[in-house]
Amino acid sequence: MNLVVVSNRVARAKTNEPMTGGLAAALLPLVESSGAIWVGSSGQILEDSSADAFATIETLGKGALALLDLPAAHYGGYYEGFANSALWPALHSRVDLIRTSQDDYESYREVNAFMARALLRFRNPETAFWVQDYHFLALGAELRALGTTHPIGFFLHTPWPAASVMRCVPHHRELIERMLAYDLVGFQTAADCDNFAGYLRTELGLAVKGGVVASPYGITRLATFPIGIDVDVFAAQAAKAALHPEVSRLRHSLEGKKLAIGVDRLDYSKGLVARVDAFDRMLALHPELKRKVSFLQIATPSRGTIEAYGALQDELARHVAEVNGRHGEVDWTPIRYLNKGFGQTVLAGFYRTAHVGVVTPFHDGMNLVAKEYVAAQNPQDPGVLVLSKFAGAANELDAALLINPHDTDAVARSIAAALTMPLTERRARWETMMRRLRTNTIHQWFSRFMAALADTRINDILVDVKQPVMPLQVRPGRGSAALH
Ligand code: G6P
Repeated sequence: MNLVVVSNRVARAKTNEPMTGGLAAALLPLVESSGAIWVGSSGQILEDSSADAFATIETLGKGALALLDLPAAHYGGYYEGFANSALWPALHSRVDLIRTSQDDYESYREVNAFMARALLRFRNPETAFWVQDYHFLALGAELRALGTTHPIGFFLHTPWPAASVMRCVPHHRELIERMLAYDLVGFQTAADCDNFAGYLRTELGLAVKGGVVASPYGITRLATFPIGIDVDVFAAQAAKAALHPEVSRLRHSLEGKKLAIGVDRLDYSKGLVARVDAFDRMLALHPELKRKVSFLQIATPSRGTIEAYGALQDELARHVAEVNGRHGEVDWTPIRYLNKGFGQTVLAGFYRTAHVGVVTPFHDGMNLVAKEYVAAQNPQDPGVLVLSKFAGAANELDAALLINPHDTDAVARSIAAALTMPLTERRARWETMMRRLRTNTIHQWFSRFMAALADTRINDILVDVKQPVMPLQVRPGRGSAALH
């Protein structure tokens, strides 16, 4: 099989370059080992949008990276506009942050259509396409409209919220109908998958039976594939990273004191301000911990031209400064706050150095930092993970200290408990989590998705192979246009 993976952001091969977001980090080893072609945005824009997509091709292990210049006229409306100011806030249940326009939607559709045209050159009779994330909800339908009958899978890295939330996205019905052009739609958690099925039922009047839905495109399977990490490779990387100069500088700076760590993109879904407030509260509740611990928060700026992100950066900086002003001493700063990214090796070393991993998003598809923190620990003396119940990772990592990130006192108490947890309990929790991580690595995730895509196609052919048709205008409301 010739696999073509598509995502907006791609990763480069250099392990020590900072990587933005879990998607890029997760897909890199898969492309390298499977020989897939990974197509994504080059970050450059193409001034003449009527021109053909220009692709730069690089090798990536056994696979290849194809970087496309996306059309300048539509890039802003697509990326900052519809993808990150309509879909992203809705997918993370922040409909108050939706800011979008008809032009944004049209640009989003244009870029999806542009990507579909560009993908045709990577196609041969054996090709399967695997589309990643909310930037390309309509890409499958665009490929079908160009006559593609190849298998096309889709995986969503973010949460999928309740139908009442998705209804707030302009053009939601048209977009979600188009998602049924995919043969397989994969989610991080069963709750996300149920929400999607609920939307199909209540908004499109389509029945999902046994994880399968029929539409004018043919059949689509819905399933859950929690994404994993390369556990043993990451653990080995963390053990080796102790010698890295940046990691030893961090260790020496602690002078035997404890460290809690948070590593996130600077995003409102990550609960960063609430986390800083919880650390503040912990110092107030446990003055005996003052000077004995510091908190390193790495918050890598992201999507900075979008107003909500700029406002968050200001707010977070203010909270950090207030906490440091309130509790700091001439020779101790409670919070070390950095606005830059680090490579995977250095991060692995930082995680191993930290006694507590603080991962407290309000909503998160999976959160691979939680999994990486666990994998990076020293088996003889593991640290403790404080994890939000609202991260997909909490389903598997239920031996972490699970918290509600909106409950400041509970988060404060959990960080304090993590800092003082006896070794036997730390080890027992860590071993349980490692066992879970090893049953679902990134390679197993990939194989499961690919097997399900192949299986869906076999069954699809028995029913009716996907055709490049326009969807029916299904009416909203229960059972109005269910197709079987
Ligand atoms: C999240 C999204 C990814 C995205 C990443 C980085 O993890 O699910 O699709 O690549 O954030 O976001 P950015 O907008 O910087 O590419």
